[in-house]
Amino acid sequence: MVDDTMKVLFSAEEIEQRLNVLAEEITKIYSTDIDKNDEKYQKPIALCILKGAAFFFVDLLRKIDIDFEVEFMKVSSYGCSKESSGEVEIKQDVNIDFAGRDILLVEDIVDSGHCMSFLLEELKKRGAKSIHIAALVDKYERRESHVHVDFAGFRLEKGFIVGCGMDFAEKYRALPDIYEIIT
Ligand code: IMP
Ligand code: MG
Repeated sequence: MVDDTMKVLFSAEEIEQRLNVLAEEITKIYSTDIDKNDEKYQKPIALCILKGAAFFFVDLLRKIDIDFEVEFMKVSSYGCSKESSGEVEIKQDVNIDFAGRDILLVEDIVDSGHCMSFLLEELKKRGAKSIHIAALVDKYERRESHVHVDFAGFRLEKGFIVGCGMDFAEKYRALPDIYEIIT
């Protein structure tokens, strides 16, 4: 599957180590909200943005010591393609109410920021109580919409990467390492 146009950027071992750190940070942040005596306490929601984040989502959640409710949403790759148009559309929605809920948005990679800023707006409109963003990679050179990634696995200036859930034309998602595609 791997060919010589691909170079390992972050190995599976490095990814695993970063996930341990992120999981610890996330556990700490969300633990402060837990009040078992508060009968109105609702679990936080971990919201996976399909399809790219699916692998990161599972690996990360397994390491977090908080019982998250899990939900999935899919937004159009139209607005989130290599050249983002800025138009983002919900392709698959959740069937729960986000009002009053704490949400951890989990994304594979934040690039222009259009997808995440669209989702932030959308979740706020639906009444989310708090929203944090976890992204495996925060790729910042092409950022057009200001988005703060609260929990970033790796920060990367530029480059097109695959593996660990990320694809190029639906290829390479299951690779355990993250590769840069050299053109
Ligand atoms: P944006 O932040 O709205 O530009 O969109 C981010 C989305 O674009 C991600 O969820 C990915 O689906 C896709 N994307 C951006 N950069 C890459 C990359 O380097 N490899 C694979 N997918 C990418
Ligand atoms: Mg994506």
